Amino acid sequence: MLNLKIILASTRPGRKGAPVAEWFYNLAAKLPEFSTELLDLAKINLPFLDEPEHPRFQRYIHQHTKDWSAIIEAADAFVIVTPEYNYGYPASIKNALDFLYREWNYKPVGFVSYGGIAAGTRSVQSLKLVVNALNMVALSDNVNIPFIAKQVDDKGKFITNELIDKSANSMLADLNKWALALKPMREKKVA
Ligand SMILES: Cc1cc2nc3c(=O)[nH]c(=O)nc-3n(C[C@H](O)[C@H](O)[C@H](O)COP(=O)(O)O)c2cc1C
Repeated sequence: MLNLKIILASTRPGRKGAPVAEWFYNLAAKLPEFSTELLDLAKINLPFLDEPEHPRFQRYIHQHTKDWSAIIEAADAFVIVTPEYNYGYPASIKNALDFLYREWNYKPVGFVSYGGIAAGTRSVQSLKLVVNALNMVALSDNVNIPFIAKQVDDKGKFITNELIDKSANSMLADLNKWALALKPMREKKVA
């Protein structure tokens, strides 16, 4: 079974990201291929990068980095649930990515983005550059949800539809393929 971590990037009070991540988690958790966990960056509460050395050396001095490292090391695949802020990604996800290096290597990542008319696609495009620097494989087909304000009901629940669920399941099928294909590379990490 593959270890899938869903990362909720938005940390804002009242964030729409929470219902989106909850919907996606429930959908992924049904799949027998994955053991799925939701990681909420608001709860993980990392400070701005405060390690003196480059993460590739893994000589972490802070307990919060050691904890984050253990969580990410255990993963085989990721889905980042992200909004678009000012045509880019939120600082929280860039910071969480920057904290580590080897723990991300040779692992696939899919994106669930949301926003206005552009559905968070500019956020995903810019995140792809970042994950590429971490030696990750970014999926080409992702889940992009436009007009997010209309997709969350009065009770704060994400309103999905057949098309969105289909694109989510299709992305998870791709993620499964990549996670299996990259497994031998993860097992033979070079120094
Ligand atoms: C600081 C900020 C910047 C934003 N910039 C964009 C943007 O560039 N493009 C967009 O489609 N929506 C933008 N929005 C609207 C967000 O898509 C919308 O508020 C969404 O709910 C944010 O995700 P969150 O609720 O999970 O934090 C912005 C919202 C905030 C708070």
